[in-house]
Amino acid sequence: MSVRDAFDEWAAAGRDREMEGRHWHTARHVLARMPVEAGDVVLDLGTGSGYAARALVDARGAGRAYGVDASAEMVSNAVEYTDSPAVGYLVGDFGHLPFATDAVDHAFSMEAFYYAADPAAVLEEVHRVLRPGGTFSCAVNYYEENGYSHGWPERVGVEMTRWDRAEYREAFRTAGFHVAEQDQVPDLETEIPPADAFPTDGYETRESMVERYRELGTLLTVGVVP
Ligand SMILES: C[S@@+](CC[C@H](N)C(=O)[O-])C[C@H]1O[C@@H](n2cnc3c(N)ncnc32)[C@H](O)[C@@H]1O
Repeated sequence: MSVRDAFDEWAAAGRDREMEGRHWHTARHVLARMPVEAGDVVLDLGTGSGYAARALVDARGAGRAYGVDASAEMVSNAVEYTDSPAVGYLVGDFGHLPFATDAVDHAFSMEAFYYAADPAAVLEEVHRVLRPGGTFSCAVNYYEENGYSHGWPERVGVEMTRWDRAEYREAFRTAGFHVAEQDQVPDLETEIPPADAFPTDGYETRESMVERYRELGTLLTVGVVP
C-alpha cells in the first residue's frame, strides 16, 4: 500500500487525532525548543492532524505556519481543526516543497521523515527552502537504536527508512546542514502499568516499556543552515 493510501485510511478512521495524542508527549518539547521568533514562517512536514502548525502559531508566535502532507484526507481533517488565517495546509510531497528558496525560517517534522522515498533528497529540499540560520527539527520514534520500533513497516504495511543516530547526523551534514543538536526526548506521559500487569500486548516486562518510553523516547536531530 502507498503511504498516501495508508494515511488516507487512518485519517478517515479518525486515527489522526489518536496519533496526535501519542506524539504530543514528546513533540511538544521539541516545538518548545525551536528558536522561533514572532512573525516567523514555519513549516511542518508530514503534518497529520496539523497540531504542530497550530501550536507554532498559537504558542510560539509564528506569523505563518504551513503543514504539508501527502494524504489529502489528513489535510482535509487538519483544515477542519482551525479557523486561524495564519495556518495553512497543503497536499504535497515533502520532497518537492512549493516554497521559494530561503523562504522559510524554521521547519519541524514529527514521525514522518522516515516515510520519504528518498530521505537524503528531502533534506536537500528542506535545506533549499530554509533561510541561512534557519533550522530543521526532525523527530522520529522509528530509528535503529529503538529496537521496539523495528517491526513497524510490517505492521503498517509501508516502507520506512531506519537510520541510527550517526546516520541522521551524517545525512544532515551531507545535505549542507550543521548539526546543532541531537537528543533523545523521553516520553514521560505514556502510562506504564505496574509490574504485575506484564506481559502486555506490546511489552514482555515493565522494564522494557520503561526503556522504550522513558529512556529511548523520540530521536531529535536539529540541523541549522549555515
Ligand atoms: C505517522 S504520521 C505523523 C503525523 C504528525 N506529524 C504527528 O505527529 O501525528 C506521518 C504523516 O506523514 C505523512 N507523509 C508520509 N510521507 C510523506 C511525504 N513524502 N510527503 C508528505 N507527507 C508525508 C503521512 O501522510 C502522515 O500523515
